[in-house]
Amino acid sequence: MNNLPDNFLWGGATAANQCEGAYLEGGKGMGTVDVIPWGPIRRDVMQGKLNYKELPEDSYYPSREAIDMYHHYKEDIALFAEMGFKCYRFSFAWSRIFPTGEEAEPNEEGLKFYEDLIDELLKYNIQPIVTICHFDVPLHLYEKYGSWKSRKLIDAYVKYCEVIFNRFKDKVKYWMTFNEINMLMHLPFMGAGITIEEGENELQVKYQAAHNELVASAMATKLAKTINPDFKIGCMLAAGQFYPYSCNPNDVLSALDKDRENYFFIDVQSRGEYPRYAKKFLERNKIVIDMGLEDESILKENTVDFIAFSYYTSRLTSADPEVGEKTAGNVIKSLRNPYLKASEWGWQIDPVGLRITMNSLYDRYQKPLFIVENGLGAVDNIEEDGSIQDDYRIEYLKAHIIEMIKAVEEDGVELIGYTPWGCIDLVSASTGEMKKRYGFIYVDKDNEGKGTLERRKKKSFDWYKEVISTNGDCLK
Ligand code: BG6
Repeated sequence: MNNLPDNFLWGGATAANQCEGAYLEGGKGMGTVDVIPWGPIRRDVMQGKLNYKELPEDSYYPSREAIDMYHHYKEDIALFAEMGFKCYRFSFAWSRIFPTGEEAEPNEEGLKFYEDLIDELLKYNIQPIVTICHFDVPLHLYEKYGSWKSRKLIDAYVKYCEVIFNRFKDKVKYWMTFNEINMLMHLPFMGAGITIEEGENELQVKYQAAHNELVASAMATKLAKTINPDFKIGCMLAAGQFYPYSCNPNDVLSALDKDRENYFFIDVQSRGEYPRYAKKFLERNKIVIDMGLEDESILKENTVDFIAFSYYTSRLTSADPEVGEKTAGNVIKSLRNPYLKASEWGWQIDPVGLRITMNSLYDRYQKPLFIVENGLGAVDNIEEDGSIQDDYRIEYLKAHIIEMIKAVEEDGVELIGYTPWGCIDLVSASTGEMKKRYGFIYVDKDNEGKGTLERRKKKSFDWYKEVISTNGDCLK
């Protein structure tokens, strides 16, 4: 028997824009994610450097149909239940509930859709874990206010939270305010609906938007507790420890700085104030944050209950820009680590890095952690007999879960649960592809959007089922 608690939340994770589809059905409005195309121009749009209005007319937008979970959710949840999921992490599409973000009343059809989905989960005793905002902002709020550049978004977001907290106060316990809040720094349009206009100071824009999100997150946390004191509210970080390229102290310092760029958000959400290193950074870069009179006290008094994070890979940095070979990672740039193998997309595979990351986060915040994303994006092939032998995925997940258990068992880290990413194949956020698959369940659809959408179990399906039923002991 390992030390994972009996009520450990094993499950899986998805996001509305990557699986729901039905982008205009049920009264839903357009979201910023619905105008991000597939193909070589995707990155420029995600980075906020190319306006979606300038895209060719025949552009293909993968989120618009995705895997059509909107119409398949009962079938999908039945498969999650068959695997023995204790929880399922998914997100609400903000524009399904407030189509423009500014309506006086929410869209009942949108709320009803999520209510039905949640009831379907509860029917199988699967606990819903909700991400309130996973990379999507109603497009209208981008057009009118420039999205999170404006404090107007704080009011719109808090109103949205008030509606969903009230509606689901007896059905949902764990909430996350923003998915990968630090993604705003790396892919501003995808992360937060931010485009950088000519003449704008990029850093100033990003840190102001970050501040607005942080205040919104704290205000939502405050509101949540008044609606149901038992709610657990979490932040969510795209994590992955930075290693120094060498033991040269300058490389070690560089790794510390790089980690802080990402920790900054969680430091505010968990400790309740701007850390001194961040204040110095803003000062040095002549960034002046427009703060509301009560912002500091709101941040201080409404910190999060738990630290959720995604972990796909560790990162590597050097103080010397000439040193090392660059490699891909979960968007955040890294050097290639000669000790690690990488996925077909160049993301380096580092299970021990998960244990290191967990320890760093727990040391820093002393709050329960929740691994809400982890997994291997890979190409899957269907064999002649119709099976999918995804041993590479099993190997990746197994190695990571073993390190996760060590962090709990040997290091004493408190951990609420583990929800591997894309438990059912879905659209890749960074590339818009379908062929970058993470699931235990295969979905018949290709990069161009063709396919029957048929669901099919992979080999990893039964493997994960056994992991859950033995609470991880079968890996020993
Ligand atoms: C995280 C996101 O960055 O990584 C997910 O929260 C995303 O939305 C996941 O899908 C995996 O990244 P990708 O680019 O392989 O889909």
